[in-house]
Amino acid sequence: MRRQPMDLGDPRLVHVIEACENGLKRLLRTRDAEVFMFAGNGHGAWEVVIDNLVAPGQAVLVPGTGHFSESWGVQAEALGRRVIHTLYREGYPIDPATVEQALRADTEREIVAVFVVHTDTASGVTSDLRALRAAIDAADHPALFVVDAVASLAAAPFAMDELRINVAVGASQKGLMVPPGLAFVAVDSAAAEVASRNPAPRFYWDWGRRRSDLPYRKFCGTPPQNLLMGLDAALSLLFREGIDEVIARHQLLARAVHAAVDCWTRKGSLQFFCRVPECRSVSVTTVLVQPGIDPEAMRSVARERFQVAIAGGLGPLAGRVFRIGHLGDLNPAMILGCLAGIDAAMTVLGIPFGRDGTQQAIACLAAG
Ligand SMILES: Cc1ncc(COP(=O)(O)O)c(C=O)c1O
Repeated sequence: MRRQPMDLGDPRLVHVIEACENGLKRLLRTRDAEVFMFAGNGHGAWEVVIDNLVAPGQAVLVPGTGHFSESWGVQAEALGRRVIHTLYREGYPIDPATVEQALRADTEREIVAVFVVHTDTASGVTSDLRALRAAIDAADHPALFVVDAVASLAAAPFAMDELRINVAVGASQKGLMVPPGLAFVAVDSAAAEVASRNPAPRFYWDWGRRRSDLPYRKFCGTPPQNLLMGLDAALSLLFREGIDEVIARHQLLARAVHAAVDCWTRKGSLQFFCRVPECRSVSVTTVLVQPGIDPEAMRSVARERFQVAIAGGLGPLAGRVFRIGHLGDLNPAMILGCLAGIDAAMTVLGIPFGRDGTQQAIACLAAG
């Protein structure tokens, strides 16, 4: 990423962009989808799908997963689209039956797409994409299946073609281990067709304008070259390790975190936010604290005294939870350091917790 950016006509730039597009397709497990990249963040990628797929006045179904489904819906509404939500139960994944029901109730076929957040980074809950695909099929509804894989890609299994995901949405800064600023979508032919008929005015986010061999056109201006070089390098690291191995590493590290948290909860001060063990994310774990415990104080002590950064609660979870991120460039030693740092911060603050958490994580990692 520290390389000197090139002139826009340099064939090496074309090769870096091609490597990123092909690598993302390989990671998403798609043969046929087109990949479009944007200088932007996850919200930018959300706007890409809203603008390209849905005309103002048309509707999308946004099943509730927590803060991120809520935010995506707010953005769609701000852009003049109608949003239908399914019931959100705190701590639970999307219930596919509610999706099927909402689609069946749409007898006028006004819902253009279902926007699903695979892993909601606020709640630490991962929903079952296969079950959601089956729900859309069972409703026999033409809605496109659009999946936000921002927090799950390169950590949890993802199979775009097999699950007939019409659009996958991602960003650079999580499992892809690249600084923020690069957003992307992968678009299948059905979604491309819907977009081509959509009269909504759009320019920067219009993926149709990005179909070009010229880097300047592909990015609607100057490409974010250093981020692209970073993504190229990161994808090479992932493929060198092996996608299955990357996923297995995330599963193991997540098991270690969950073993520690499970132990910490034994004194009643803490609780897993996700109530369904098999839906606990391999990327992030959200821990609910009892009233009277201040997660922000924990974050400060962990950061200032033990050099461990833990995340706080977002939206309605602010002040109620802390979050442990465990994705991307991460190994067992790093996760043990993180857990021990949290352990130490809770000790400083006198929070009652089961003492053996880090030991449980070590046992889990030792068992492999
Ligand atoms: C699942 C998910 N979707 C979308 C976003 C939005 O991404 P950004 O913050 O890059 O705009 C995030 C950010 O954390 C996220 O976790």
